[in-house]
Amino acid sequence: THKIILDTDPGIDDAMAIFFAFQSPDIEVLGLTTVFGNVPVSMSAQNALTLCEMAGKDIPVTKGVGRPWVGAESTYAHFVHGDYGFGHIKPEPPKGELDPRSSAQFIVDMARKYPGEITLVAIGPLGNLALALRLEPELPKLVKGVSIMGGAAFVRGNVTPVAEANIWNDAFAAEIVFAADWNLTMFGLDVTNDVPFAPSFVDVLAEKNAKLGGFVQETAQFYMDFYSQNREDRVCFFHDAFPIAHLTHPELFELTEGHVRVGTGPLDRGQTVVAPMGTTPSPLWNEANTINVATKVDHAKLEQLFINTYAL
Ligand code: BDR
Ligand code: CA
Repeated sequence: THKIILDTDPGIDDAMAIFFAFQSPDIEVLGLTTVFGNVPVSMSAQNALTLCEMAGKDIPVTKGVGRPWVGAESTYAHFVHGDYGFGHIKPEPPKGELDPRSSAQFIVDMARKYPGEITLVAIGPLGNLALALRLEPELPKLVKGVSIMGGAAFVRGNVTPVAEANIWNDAFAAEIVFAADWNLTMFGLDVTNDVPFAPSFVDVLAEKNAKLGGFVQETAQFYMDFYSQNREDRVCFFHDAFPIAHLTHPELFELTEGHVRVGTGPLDRGQTVVAPMGTTPSPLWNEANTINVATKVDHAKLEQLFINTYAL
């Protein structure tokens, strides 16, 4: 089994991804570490607790970074995820308590406890991972790998023409995380925006799993309203589930290797600038870490994997 820590900002697609991880027989979720992003960090933490309670999972949930590494302001995505992060739903306050540690401290503690065993799966902005690297510079040696949903390698962004939301929200933190010497795999809009999910998909999830799938179906209605504004068809995108699917089913994906830097200027903020191996003589890229960048995914098999896993 894969031991993971899920770093998240729930969030509709975060919820779908968290339940998918909980349902996956070969994944052990050691804890949910939360960060600001789709919603403020306090709400993100409460939402993560709520999701654990819905799924009957008694695991630590921590509150983490509440604003970007540089600059005071945070922006949230209520227009995508709803007032409380779950579409039209206003969740009941959870009964459980947060783990008192910060998200970064929890990541460091777990990495020391299980050296070489944990994959950090980050599906929100990257402040907690950047801070954990500052707390424990040896972190790259202590974790097995890092998988993130974020960036747009060879396609357009979704917040600006060049930037994807998770990276744009905390570009300086992302630059720290991409530069660290660990085995990092990036699932950007290249793959996640390539797989539109129709209403029938969430209907099937609800059919297979009334409780968890039902919640995804309900919250996804708001999400689909957002995504359908600029398209003819009614669809949504479950970005955050991709790195989790790759852990247990790598054969569904095609990856390429490259060096990645993150733009931090006013125009290129959050851009993931990818230099495929050997394509630039510039030390700015060539001395950077080598990243695995997902470029393709098998739509039909991925959809079936989600359905089968929710059905378990
Ligand atoms: C990412 O941004 C958030 O809105 C989603 O939860 C996902 O993590 C997609 O760009
Ligand atoms: Ca997210």
